[in-house]
Amino acid sequence: MHRPLIIAPSIFAADFSRLGEEVRAVDAAGADWIHVDIMDGHFVPNISFGPDVVKAIRSYTRKSLDVHLMIAPCDPYLEAFARAGADTIIVHVEAGPHLYRSLQAIRSLGKRVGVTLNPGTPVETIEPVIDLVDQILVMSVNPGFGGQAFISSAAERISRLRALAASRPIDIEVDGGITAETAPIVVRAGANALVAGSAVFKGGKPETYRANIAAIRAAAAHARGEAA
Ligand code: DX5
Ligand code: ZN
Repeated sequence: MHRPLIIAPSIFAADFSRLGEEVRAVDAAGADWIHVDIMDGHFVPNISFGPDVVKAIRSYTRKSLDVHLMIAPCDPYLEAFARAGADTIIVHVEAGPHLYRSLQAIRSLGKRVGVTLNPGTPVETIEPVIDLVDQILVMSVNPGFGGQAFISSAAERISRLRALAASRPIDIEVDGGITAETAPIVVRAGANALVAGSAVFKGGKPETYRANIAAIRAAAAHARGEAA
């Protein structure tokens, strides 16, 4: 079973002073999903933006908004992100005392359900919730900042999660340090959705975004034995 290849630019690496235009630019440049990083300065040592900003960018793209909540507790904010226009809501295993309940809450809001693991989170924590999720996000950096180096142990963790997901229709996504060089490693391990911030937004111009996305897609497709 082969899930579709997804390239999800992270707008955390965009020019925030022109966020709407940047979202439109990566959409036009070939993004499949738009990855939106929400940081609270508590769960992670950085602050990004909240549901009002998600709502503001919603009208700039019809692509799926892949909302990665790096916030704890997450439960009080799930509805606000759902109303703001998120398509997928991803919560960290450690984002509250009742992971199962948080995932059920996302489902009941009518959104795709995602769960994510920090580099130090045991893979086994996903086993009890595997039937509740549409997507598993493997962090390949410590969350909180863009532009960090890929942590190579993510590859083995991806293959274990791919095996755990078995024939379920679950997307395995990876986030952190993804470039045209690291994409083949995670794709061969079984990831099908690739988040990339700096590797997409480097160059700072819509023409370079297109080339950057194409380079990641070509490298990943080649590793899957497909044409880009
Ligand atoms: C990190 C975020 C990432 C980040 C990725 O906490 O979850 O989505 O923007 O940035 P790069 O691709 O630059 O590692
Ligand atoms: Zn992210």
